[in-house]
Amino acid sequence: MTEIDYDVVIENESEREFYKETHNKILEYLKRNKTSTFWEIVRNVQGSDRRVLRLLNQMRLAGEIALEGVQISSSGFNADEPNKRVQAPADGFNTAVKPSGLSFELGEEYKSIISKMERIVKSRPVPTFFYDQRPVTITTSVKRVAYLDSRGDLDGKRIVLIGDDDLTSLALGLTKRAKEIVVFDIDERLVDFINLISKEKRLKVRAYKYDLTKEIPSEFSGKFDIFLTDPTPNKISFELFISIGLNLLAEKGVGYVSFFPTHQAKSVDFQKILTERKVVITDMIPRFTEYDFVPQTYRKEDLKLLELFDSGGERLSFYENNTRFEVGPKSIREIKLLTDEERADFIGKATKRVLENPTLDPAYRKNSK
Ligand SMILES: C[S@@+](CC[C@H](N)C(=O)[O-])C[C@H]1O[C@@H](n2cnc3c(N)ncnc32)[C@H](O)[C@@H]1O
Repeated sequence: MTEIDYDVVIENESEREFYKETHNKILEYLKRNKTSTFWEIVRNVQGSDRRVLRLLNQMRLAGEIALEGVQISSSGFNADEPNKRVQAPADGFNTAVKPSGLSFELGEEYKSIISKMERIVKSRPVPTFFYDQRPVTITTSVKRVAYLDSRGDLDGKRIVLIGDDDLTSLALGLTKRAKEIVVFDIDERLVDFINLISKEKRLKVRAYKYDLTKEIPSEFSGKFDIFLTDPTPNKISFELFISIGLNLLAEKGVGYVSFFPTHQAKSVDFQKILTERKVVITDMIPRFTEYDFVPQTYRKEDLKLLELFDSGGERLSFYENNTRFEVGPKSIREIKLLTDEERADFIGKATKRVLENPTLDPAYRKNSK
């Protein structure tokens, strides 16, 4: 039995411990579930899709898992204890605990919005890592709207989105139930696209171009009931986007944010920021927010492995929770002002990578403006 070669799994030394942990979690997951697939593992365990793909291949080469067609099963051995067989549950398949993402049944209204969104996104701007874009799946955007609806956060509400590469504003607009929907984003292509579709479909959605690290939409302060944001998962970016959202809300309101990305170790920083800002977390739904598959991030060798492991169905890159919190008069709405040093740290890992090598950027590769 060979060992797992983490050098071919990770893309940065800092990821080594995380993917060792992911390895153990996959083995545990396969102990609980007799068979699984690549996408089920990405959807339910942890790690970024392409690193998990390479890790699974290493596990296959090490004889820890068997791949029959697209079905993955534990071959009963653990690399850490090669002489000890992994015990499968008696019935092999513990259906009582088998996770299946969030079972959130969408009604007819939302199914029809998914179809409309699928047509709309065909002409959307290609996501760019220069602005750390990583859109969620269409299903996730529409599920978000349905979730707001189920919590009484949609009908007649004034809703603002701080960054919207996910196009959730358009999914919200298509319900025709919110009073007003406003988007702030740095990406001019995205702002123009949202305004164009809004005009064509007569939606109450308006997008404005802002670099939120430099200018704040202060004329909109205190004007909204609900805000949604999905910042880059680092402390500086999270606090900036949350603080702007809080500032834009009226005295009472509700915020939505996604965090705990499954491609990085969990950090207390995010919940600390929410607590320091004196907002009350009311809901945290696990495995809700699924980020879309971006083929341009795959190397040639990864694409070959994908052919081997691809089990079909909706693809994803990683997932996060969906968090709802309530904002009251005592919440801290002061906008976080960035120092020059913080402005440099604002950008995410993907942005740093494309600044060093622009050819890794999906939009750059497609010659997008
Ligand atoms: C920061 S990205 C995060 C993407 C992804 N949802 C995630 O969690 O990694 C979210 C949105 O913020 C926008 N954005 C990035 N930098 C910005 C800035 N300085 N000012 C305004 N919007 C920005 C992007 O264009 C994108 O639409």
